[in-house]
Amino acid sequence: MSILVTGGLGYIGSHTVVELINHNFEVVIVDDLSNSEKFILNNIEEITGKRPIFYPFDLKRKELLSQVFEAHIISGCIHFAASKAVGESMIKPLDYYENNLFSLINVLQEFRKRDISNFIFSSSCTVYGQADKMPIDENTPLKEAESSYGKTKQMGEDILKDFSRAYQKRVSLLRYFNPIGAHPTALLGELPSGIPNNLVPYVTQTAAGIREKLSIWGDDYPTEDGTAVRDYIYVVDLAKAHVAALKKLINSEEQKVLDIYNLGTGKGSSVLEVVKAFELANNIKVPYQICPRREGDITVAYANADKAEKELGWKSETSLEEALRTTWEWQKYLKEKSQ
Ligand code: UFG
Repeated sequence: MSILVTGGLGYIGSHTVVELINHNFEVVIVDDLSNSEKFILNNIEEITGKRPIFYPFDLKRKELLSQVFEAHIISGCIHFAASKAVGESMIKPLDYYENNLFSLINVLQEFRKRDISNFIFSSSCTVYGQADKMPIDENTPLKEAESSYGKTKQMGEDILKDFSRAYQKRVSLLRYFNPIGAHPTALLGELPSGIPNNLVPYVTQTAAGIREKLSIWGDDYPTEDGTAVRDYIYVVDLAKAHVAALKKLINSEEQKVLDIYNLGTGKGSSVLEVVKAFELANNIKVPYQICPRREGDITVAYANADKAEKELGWKSETSLEEALRTTWEWQKYLKEKSQ
C-alpha cells in the first residue's frame, strides 16, 4: 500500500516516513527541498534499510503531481508540505496562502478525481489561539489565529471538512503542540534555516556556541516562574501518532470520517524549565538573558490528549529530558557532518 507523504524530508515528515516503513507501508515522498535536505533520504535508508521513492518538486506543479498518481497506486496521504515560519507569514501572507492552500487543494483534487480516501493533515494547536482554559481539548472553540501561518492551518482544516463531507472521504486532522527532539540514531532532526525562531533549536545552538545567548522572551507572564508555558512533544512519539491515525482511517468501515486529535503530552513546561531540563540532560550550560515578551506569543498552551489515547491507542511516552538529549546528539551529528 503506497502512502504519499508530502514534505516527507522535513522535520516531522522524515520521522513519520521512518515509522511508516517500520509498519511495512510503501512510501512515496514529494518534497521541494525548500526547507529540507536531500541527505535526509540517505539517512532514512540507513535507519530503515529501505529507500523511499522520492520526487523533488513543488506541489503547486499540478502536472507533475498527476504523474505521481499515474505512476503509483496511492491509498492515502500524510500532508506535511507547508511553509511554517510564523513571523515570516506575517510579512509574506500571500506566499503563505498560495503555498499552503494551493498545495493542499492540488493533492485533494487528485484524491477526488481518482476516488482515493485516507487523508491526514498536519495541523497545529495554533488553530486554538489563546484558549480560555487549560488543558485544551478538541472541543475548545477555535479563535482567530494569531498569524497568517495559523490561518492557513485553520483554512486547511475547513477545506478538509468540506472535502470529507462533500466527497465522502476519510480525513484526520492532527493538531500538534510543540514538537521537539531528534531520532534516537541522531540521523534525523530539525534543520532550522538561519537563526532559529523556535525555542529548542535556539537552546541547542546556544549550547553548541553557534549563538551567544538565548533570549527568553518575557518573565512576567502569569505563570509559576513568569515564563511562557507550552506542551513539548517528542517528534518520534508524534510520528507514531500519524501511523496510528492512518491505520484507523484505513481500517474504518465508514466511507466518511472526520477525526480530530490533539497531539501533545498533556503537560505544560515553562521556557525556564526547558532550559534547565536541557542543561541537566546534557550536562551543559545554556547562557541566557531575559528580554521583553515576543509579539504574538500566548501565555500558556498544553493539550488534553485523552482522545488520541482512547481512540488511537497512542500516547506520548518520552520525557522532556530524553527528547532534549536526542536534540543534542543531533546537533553533534550536524557538527561532525559539516567538518
Ligand atoms: N522562546 C524564547 N526564546 C526563543 C524562542 C522561543 O523565549 O529564542 C519562547 C517563546 O516566547 C515561547 C516558547 O519559547 O514562549 C516556545 O516558542 P516556540 O517559538 O518554540 O514555539 P511557539 O509555541 O511560539 O510556536 C509553536 C510552533 C508554531 C505554532 C505554534 C502554535 O513553532 O508553528 O507553536 O502555538 F504555530
